[in-house]
Amino acid sequence: MKRRILNIACIGAGYVGGPTMAVIADRCPDVSVTVIDLNEARIAAWNSDALPVYEPGLDEVVRRTRGRNLRFIPQREGAAAVAAADAVFISVNTPTKTQGAGAGKASDLSYVEACARYIAEHAKGHTIVIEKSTMPVRAADTIKRILATSPHGGTFDVLSNPEFLAEGTAIRDLEKPDRVLIGGETSAAVEALAEVYAHWVPDPAILRTGLWSAELSKLAANAFLAQRVSSINAISALCEVTGAQVEEVAKVLGSDSRIGPKFLKASVGFGGSCFKKDLLSLVYLCEFYGLTEPAAYWQSVQDLNEWQKRRFAQMAAAHAKKHGGVVAVLGLAFKKNTNDFRESPAIDICNHLLAAGVRLRLQDERVAPEAFRSVLVDEAQSGFSFYPQVEEAVRGAGAILVLTEWDRYAELDWAKLSGLANDSVMIFDGRKVVDQTKAGSSGIKVFAVGQG
Ligand code: NAD
Ligand code: UGA
Repeated sequence: MKRRILNIACIGAGYVGGPTMAVIADRCPDVSVTVIDLNEARIAAWNSDALPVYEPGLDEVVRRTRGRNLRFIPQREGAAAVAAADAVFISVNTPTKTQGAGAGKASDLSYVEACARYIAEHAKGHTIVIEKSTMPVRAADTIKRILATSPHGGTFDVLSNPEFLAEGTAIRDLEKPDRVLIGGETSAAVEALAEVYAHWVPDPAILRTGLWSAELSKLAANAFLAQRVSSINAISALCEVTGAQVEEVAKVLGSDSRIGPKFLKASVGFGGSCFKKDLLSLVYLCEFYGLTEPAAYWQSVQDLNEWQKRRFAQMAAAHAKKHGGVVAVLGLAFKKNTNDFRESPAIDICNHLLAAGVRLRLQDERVAPEAFRSVLVDEAQSGFSFYPQVEEAVRGAGAILVLTEWDRYAELDWAKLSGLANDSVMIFDGRKVVDQTKAGSSGIKVFAVGQG
C-alpha cells in the first residue's frame, strides 16, 4: 500500500534533530514537523532568537519555517504530535555505555528505548518509526520489540535513516547531501520516506538498503573517516622527525584519484561527539561476534588519536614549564564554525596541562566558558581563566596552543601578540593555521603538527 508522510514528529532537538527537521520543514512546505525534547530549556532556546546550536545558515532556515510548518515543543506536550504523526524520527543521543555489559565501548541505547516506549504508548494507527540516531547493527530489533507492546494496537514500520551531516557545515550538508540512506524491510515505508527527501534530493542520491546494512554503514562511514585522520596523523609524527612536510605528503596522496584529497589534514587529533563513540561501538560489535582482529584494527584508530593528543600536550607542557608555566589555549571547539566541544581535543590537552601544573588562559570564538569549565579537572589547582579576546589570553604565556582552526587565528597580528606574551613564547599549532612568516618575523618559534 502506498503511504504518504505529511505529519512528522521528531524526538530529540539536538545538533541533529533541530537542523535536520528545520531543513525538512523548509524543503517540504506540505509537511508539518514537530520537534519534541525532554530538555525544556533547549526547546525554549529553539523557540527564541538565540538557538541552542550554532550552525552557519541555521538561523535563516528556522526563521523561515518556525511557526509555519515547524514547531518545537516539550515532551510533556508531545503525545498528540506522536499520535498524529505518519512518521516519528528518533534523534536522541546514543553515547558510550558507562555501566553494565559493554561499558566503555557499547552504545547506550537507553534514550532510544525510552523513545520507543513513548511512541508505543502514544502512536495511533500505522506509524513509520525512523532511526535517525546512530545505532549499533540490529538496534531495530530492540525498537521493534518495544513497539510491539503498543497498548492501542498501533502498527509500525522501522526504518534506518542515519544522518551524515558534519557540524559547522550542517545546513549545506543537509541541503546538498552526498547521499541519503534509507534502510528498511518494507518498500512502502522506504518509498514514503524517500518521497519526503525527493522534495530536494535527486533520486540517485537516495540509497535504499536493508536495515542492517544501513545501520552498519553509518558506523563504518565514521570509522573510515576517523581512520583517515589517524593515518595522516601517524604520518605527521614521521614527518616531524624526518624533515618531511605533512601538507606536501597529503597533497601527493590526495591527488591519487583512488585516495582523494579530503580528510587528510593532520591535526592535534579528531574530536566531536561521534568518531570516538562510533569507533568504540564498532570495536564492541566486532568483539561481540568474536572478530578479534577487526576489533583490534578499529581500536588502533582510536588509540593513535589518543597518542597524538598526548604527545602534543607533553611537548607544550615541557616548554611552558621552562618559561613561566602559563599556556594560552586558542580554540576549544572540536572544529571551527560550531559551539560544540564534545570530545574536543582541547579537553584532554587542557586537563593534561593542568595536571602538569600549568596555568591556562583559554579563548574560543563560540564555546561558552561556563559550559567548558565543567569538563576541566584541576586537582593540582594549577588554575584556569577564560578570555573573550586573543590579546588578553596570550598575556604572559610561555606557550600558545592553537587547537581549533578558527579563521581568525590565521590572521592574528603576531607582532603585537609577541609583546604581550613571555619573551620565550612558542606557538604549538595543532591545526596548521598560524601564519608562520609573520610569527617568525616577530621572533616567535612555531611548532606545527607534521612539519619537519
Ligand atoms: P544531542 O545530545 O545534541 O541531542 C539529543 C537530544 O535528545 C537532547 O536534546 C536530549 O535532551 C534529547 N533526548 C534524549 N532522550 C530523550 C527522550 N527520551 N525524549 C526526548 N528527548 C530526549 O545529540 P546529537 O548530536 O543531536 O546526536 C543525536 C544522534 O545523532 C546520535 O546518535 C549521534 O551519534 C547522531 N549523529 C550526530 C551527528 C552530529 O553531528 N552531532 C551527526 C550524525 C549523527
Ligand atoms: C563527522 C562526519 O564527518 C559526519 O559525516 C558524521 O555525520 C558525523 O561525524 C557524526 O556522525 O556525528 P563531525 O564530527 O561533525 O562529522 O565533523 P568532521 O568534519 O568529520 O570532523 C571530525 C573531527 O576530525 C574534527 O575534530 C576535525 O577537526 C577532525 N579532522 C577532520 C581532522 O583532524 N582532519 C581532517 O582532515 C578532517
